[in-house]
Amino acid sequence: MQITAVEGLGAEITDLDIKNLSEQEFADIRAAFAEHGVIFFRDQDTTENDHIAYAERYGDIKVNRFFAAHPNFPQIALVAKEPDQKDNIGGGWHTDHSYDHEPALGSVLVARELPDSGGDTMFASMYKAYDSLSDEMKAKLEGLKALHSGKHIFGEGPDSYYNTSDAGTHEEGTSRIGNSAVAEQLSDPEHPIVITHPLSGKKALYVNPAFTREVVGMEKAESDELLSDLYTHVFTGHDFHHRFQWRPGSIAMWDNRSTWHWALNDYQGQRRIMHRITIEGCPLDA
Ligand code: OGA
Ligand code: MN
Repeated sequence: MQITAVEGLGAEITDLDIKNLSEQEFADIRAAFAEHGVIFFRDQDTTENDHIAYAERYGDIKVNRFFAAHPNFPQIALVAKEPDQKDNIGGGWHTDHSYDHEPALGSVLVARELPDSGGDTMFASMYKAYDSLSDEMKAKLEGLKALHSGKHIFGEGPDSYYNTSDAGTHEEGTSRIGNSAVAEQLSDPEHPIVITHPLSGKKALYVNPAFTREVVGMEKAESDELLSDLYTHVFTGHDFHHRFQWRPGSIAMWDNRSTWHWALNDYQGQRRIMHRITIEGCPLDA
């Protein structure tokens, strides 16, 4: 097995079969995941059950309450775009699940059907985003929290950002947990703007343009300006971006706490079908 850092962020891991990993190989992969934020596998021949078995090595599977599930495997969310759909899922910079009190650790995305060209995914490192802030900005962010929510996106029906035609009505995720857990999930959380990453112990910038609503305790205008400055810093931080080109058999596994991602929507008229499994995370501390 070979682990090679790629440009911007992330590591490509080759010469392995994720169906047959020794304990040592898995430990090395886990360490690479914590260090690099996103790992890429090529040429993997996996069934849905193999995908589930790999993901379960990291923790419990989280069923996304907004996404359509695979008809036979409720643990797998379908990240799909049909030829007649204009919008895609995740078509802007974001990180998944920051609207949860315990944001997901990460996701394992398997390519099942790809367009002839296009449909790459962009990633950005929130470790490097934080490290490259000015000392002044770092000092300003210390102790600050932000409010996150998914309601403005998932509550708005078929034309929402996520193009979830069943937004807010998909019961798969909520039916198996009690009402108080649902209420807890649906209330909007506050997270530190700079987190200490639970796996790596490194600091990461933890706000994103999709789900972060405001800086807690700050006037709206000042909060908007601060968030916009932070987003501009990431948008223009090309040296900590990576553009991943999918091929049949490709798998990407990203950490939601230390990366952003963005599904490019440049393949109109073609189908793209991805299978996503999301892994439970934990509360985030400064
Ligand atoms: C996601 C997502 C990116 C892609 O599954 O959360 O944003 O390239 N997917 O499909
Ligand atoms: Mn996403």
